[in-house]
Amino acid sequence: MSSLIPVRFQEFDLDAMAQAEGRVAIIIPSDGKMNPAARRANRLTKGAVARLVESEKFGKSKTGDVISMAWPAGMAAEALDVVVLPRRPEADEARKAGAALAKSAVGKDMLVMVGNQAQTENLALGMVLRSYDFNAHKTKDSEGSGSITIGHSKPKEAEAEFAPLYAIADGVRMTRDLTNEPANVLTTTEFADRLVEMQELGLEVEVLEEDKLAELGMRTLLSVGQGSASPSKVVVMHWNGGDKDDAPLALVGKGVVFDTGGISLKPAGGMEDMTMDMGGAGVVAGTMRALAKRKAKANVVGLVGLVENMPSGNATRPGDVVKSMKGDTVEIINTDAEGRLVLCDVMWYAQERFKPVGMIDLATLTGAIIIGLGHENAGVFSNNDTFCDAFLKSARAEDEGAWRMPLGDAYDKLLKSRIADMKNVGGRPAGSITAAQFLQRFVKEDTPWIHLDIAGVASVSSETSYAPKGATGWGVRALSRFVQDNFE
Ligand code: BES
Ligand code: MN
Ligand code: ZN
Repeated sequence: MSSLIPVRFQEFDLDAMAQAEGRVAIIIPSDGKMNPAARRANRLTKGAVARLVESEKFGKSKTGDVISMAWPAGMAAEALDVVVLPRRPEADEARKAGAALAKSAVGKDMLVMVGNQAQTENLALGMVLRSYDFNAHKTKDSEGSGSITIGHSKPKEAEAEFAPLYAIADGVRMTRDLTNEPANVLTTTEFADRLVEMQELGLEVEVLEEDKLAELGMRTLLSVGQGSASPSKVVVMHWNGGDKDDAPLALVGKGVVFDTGGISLKPAGGMEDMTMDMGGAGVVAGTMRALAKRKAKANVVGLVGLVENMPSGNATRPGDVVKSMKGDTVEIINTDAEGRLVLCDVMWYAQERFKPVGMIDLATLTGAIIIGLGHENAGVFSNNDTFCDAFLKSARAEDEGAWRMPLGDAYDKLLKSRIADMKNVGGRPAGSITAAQFLQRFVKEDTPWIHLDIAGVASVSSETSYAPKGATGWGVRALSRFVQDNFE
């Protein structure tokens, strides 16, 4: 597990700049107008900052760019970073600039002289998100963990504004850690244990074991895990920050700790990536953490189905027919279409038990969504335009790509089975949509519902604005904002 980079707010003190070690950052808007920190840096460096501002390089720079001056004369720092940002930036401009600043300084101590700059909290959030580093399994990594110090003219106020964003960043960190963790470490049991630990944050956490799941009739979920030595589990996390009588929002996550495909075995190339197939459950966990840490005034219940999809003498076969908790029977044509079998039982259980005001499920569900949308947007499917538009708005505000996809009866028909109520696959065309149609069969008509297919965005092979390669934590920020804007 990793820990968040510490952030300290201190009084804006120009005299601290000369002696600060590590890296020192100042902010200059595109028009080149220098604030007091920039003027002090300019004096210390005998005019180097003014020369930079007049240079072609600065002239060509854009908002959010960072220009580094290495080993500046007159300063103890190893670099002076110039952040190009207006005095009153938009939230996402500040966040992106923070991320760009932190990118060049992972593992270093940073002093950022913001003064009375607007959107300091988002600048700091961007820095924290981009400072993430998953080095839990590197034995020779000697890089320090770094720290962030913000020089602010009202440090107490700035710190109070930043606190809820730091809580959200810690949720993102948890999601990334879970998603990056290899499957021999993050077994279903280890996953459940890490969720139970969150009780110390005021969450109520229940673990449902296999005997209980069998009693509830969750046969489709159990059919996925039955080939594995690790026991299947469902974990229920309750955050009760709202009125006692308010029905909760339900978040449901696919937690396949490893997806071999089962008897419908995946090819060897790239199979190691399937350690991230619990990404949906990871986002649910990280969101619940963020809500608890920022003490959200809403009722939210998070449910995750934790299973491992393995081939063995005990594994489900293609052609098997299994009955879901709802009572509908499923002909399992392909054991690699396992995520929907896990989700359908957990979604049904969530609705039966909690009668939620709305339900959002998250899953690394289909390779097809990567073909359709790449790594920029998650696929969004919904039965309710108002509910869906509200989520898309939150995702846009947090700069987390989300793109709505269609549903419809013609797609649903592709799931017809000769011998059971439905098949678990609909064939190659529109693979992400038929997967969503399968899920919709387990959504009650009056439950507003959104399905997020995050196969393309949960973990990526090249860095994003806010994260290094690997797990991104996509969705935690959008969901936290969605809760804040619609339920608090
Ligand atoms: N976990 C995979 C989907 C996936 C693929 C996630 C690539 C991340 C990256 C899912 O369980 C799966 O195997 N889906 C199949 C469905 C098919 C058998 C209908 C797929 O997408 O090929
Ligand atoms: Mn699969
Ligand atoms: Zn899967």
